[in-house]
Amino acid sequence: MKKYHGAFIKNEREISCLREADRMVANILDAVGDMLKPGIKTRQINELALDMCSDYKVKPAFLGYCGYPYAICTSVNEEVVHGFPSERVIEEGDIVSVDMGVEYEGFVGDAARTFPAGTVSAEALKLMQVTEDSLYVGIEQAVAGNDVFAIGAAVQKFVEENGFNVVRRFVGHGVGSRMHEKPEVPNFKTGVRGLTLQNGMVIAIEPMVTAGTYDVDILKDGWTAVTKDRKWAAHFEHSVAITPQGPRILSISDRGLNKHTIKA
Ligand code: MF3
Ligand code: CO
Repeated sequence: MKKYHGAFIKNEREISCLREADRMVANILDAVGDMLKPGIKTRQINELALDMCSDYKVKPAFLGYCGYPYAICTSVNEEVVHGFPSERVIEEGDIVSVDMGVEYEGFVGDAARTFPAGTVSAEALKLMQVTEDSLYVGIEQAVAGNDVFAIGAAVQKFVEENGFNVVRRFVGHGVGSRMHEKPEVPNFKTGVRGLTLQNGMVIAIEPMVTAGTYDVDILKDGWTAVTKDRKWAAHFEHSVAITPQGPRILSISDRGLNKHTIKA
C-alpha cells in the first residue's frame, strides 16, 4: 500500500501555520497582480516570487517538486496550468494564470489566480469571472458532514450553466505538511460517494475552466498543460479549512479577500 502522507485532521497550531503560509502566498499573488502589465516577461514574475520568499524566509514549495524547475507557474491564455516562466513577453489582452506555493515551518500554502493584462476581450473576462465565482461556489460546499465530491458537482454545474467547461485531468487536494495530501478534490461531478468532510481538514480547491474542450495536452517540456483546442483557460485556487464555523479561506492576503476584483 502507498504510504499515506499527512494527517487528515489538523490541530489549531497546524492550521495557524497553514494560514501563515497561505497569507504569504496571497501577498505574493497581490504583488504579482500589481506588476502584471503588458510588456513584462513571465520570468520577472518568477523573480518577484523568489525575492518575496527570501524576504519571508520561506521555501518556494513548487521549486524542485517532482522536478518542477521554477518557484511559480505562469500559464498564459490557452495554457491551463504548470506553465514555465520564460522570456515570453505578456501582451495586452492576455490572461495569465499564476499559481504559487510556499513552505513555512513545514506547512504548505497553495493558491492561484488568473490576471488580465491590460484590457482583455469580453469573452476572456467572462471566463475569468466565471472561474473565480465557481471557486466560491465550491467553497460553499466545504462544510463538515458534506461529501467532498459535492464540491466538484457544484462547481461543474455552475461552470456549465455559464457556457464553459471544467478540466478533468487535474484536481484539488488536501494540503498540510505535504502539498498534495488525501483527499483528492475533483472540480467535476464524479457520480460516486467520496470521503465525508470533517472539521480540521484543509483542502485546496482549484477549478480550471476552459472556453472550449476540457481536454488538455502536455507540451514537450513535460509540464505545461494546454487546452487541446487551444481555446483559453482560467484557474483560481484557495486553501480552505473545514471549521465548525464553516469554510475558512486561509489564502487571504494582508489586503483582505481578493474576491471579484476583476473589473471590466
Ligand atoms: N496548485 C498546483 C497543485 O496543487 C501547483 C503544483 S505545481 C508543481 O498541484 F509544480 F509544484 F507541481
Ligand atoms: Co494546488
